[in-house]
Amino acid sequence: MTDRYAVIGNPISHSKSPLIHRLFAEQTGQDMSYEAIEAPLDGFAPTIRRLRDEGYKGCNVTVPFKFEAYALCDQLGARARDAKAVNTLLFQDGKILGTNTDGAGLLSDIENNLGFKLMWKDALLLGAGGAAAGVLWPLFNAGLGVDIANRTLDKAQVLAEQFKGAGTVHARTYEDLAGRKYDLVINATSSGLKDELPPLPEGLFKPGALAYDMMYGRETPFMAFARKQGAALVSDGLGMLVEQAAEAFQVWRGVRPDTRPVLEKLRT
Ligand code: ATR
Repeated sequence: MTDRYAVIGNPISHSKSPLIHRLFAEQTGQDMSYEAIEAPLDGFAPTIRRLRDEGYKGCNVTVPFKFEAYALCDQLGARARDAKAVNTLLFQDGKILGTNTDGAGLLSDIENNLGFKLMWKDALLLGAGGAAAGVLWPLFNAGLGVDIANRTLDKAQVLAEQFKGAGTVHARTYEDLAGRKYDLVINATSSGLKDELPPLPEGLFKPGALAYDMMYGRETPFMAFARKQGAALVSDGLGMLVEQAAEAFQVWRGVRPDTRPVLEKLRT
């Protein structure tokens, strides 16, 4: 019987995950289906339990349900525990197991696809919501010092406190950023969705710097700003999407697909 998987979000119609997983399944010869399911905003848990009871093998979870998914799991992987957010579920013997592949996906895209070496670099993470929390631990693991900037400083402070044992981390306001320079600036805010630019000062990028927007699908104001400010590399988050999907695929199927042809196909 074909194994069933899905991505759950709200809204979900724009999701590229079904196409990505179909391409992975084709490439690795796996007998599986993958669909996009919109859960009502107040109905995430019943949707997940229904899928589990109907025999689905697992699912991905996206905005705005990653924190609820964390709370729902019977068992958590280390990455999900650190992030307090879950993007990948596996249903096993009636139990809901959760992990988070977002951080590994980001690192894989930055290091392998973009060829940017992370060790000992200074990073600035913009935003302190779920998207930012999901990638912090892997950034420390890769040997980076991280400043977290957020309009609402409290939220950045909570994250910095939560991760302070992991590495060098500071919470900053946007005003604090004046005069500071970074090798890597990651936009984990939802500003791009609204065509807004976080209030960044000029002169933020060191020579050779990478500006990375976790959003994909179009040039965001952050990406345009980074180009104008002379960032050496500017990237959207499509590669991260494909890489986090490959990590989830590996959790479910035990094989890691080759992401390059899939990323090429999505870019054309
Ligand atoms: P997600 O789970 O996608 O991270 P979220 O929890 O709603 O979503 O967080 C959105 C993040 O984007 C927050 O850090 C928010 O900043 P505030 O906490 O100060 O609101 C940030 N954000 C949204 N629009 C922004 C903008 N125009 N400029 C800067 N930050 C913005």
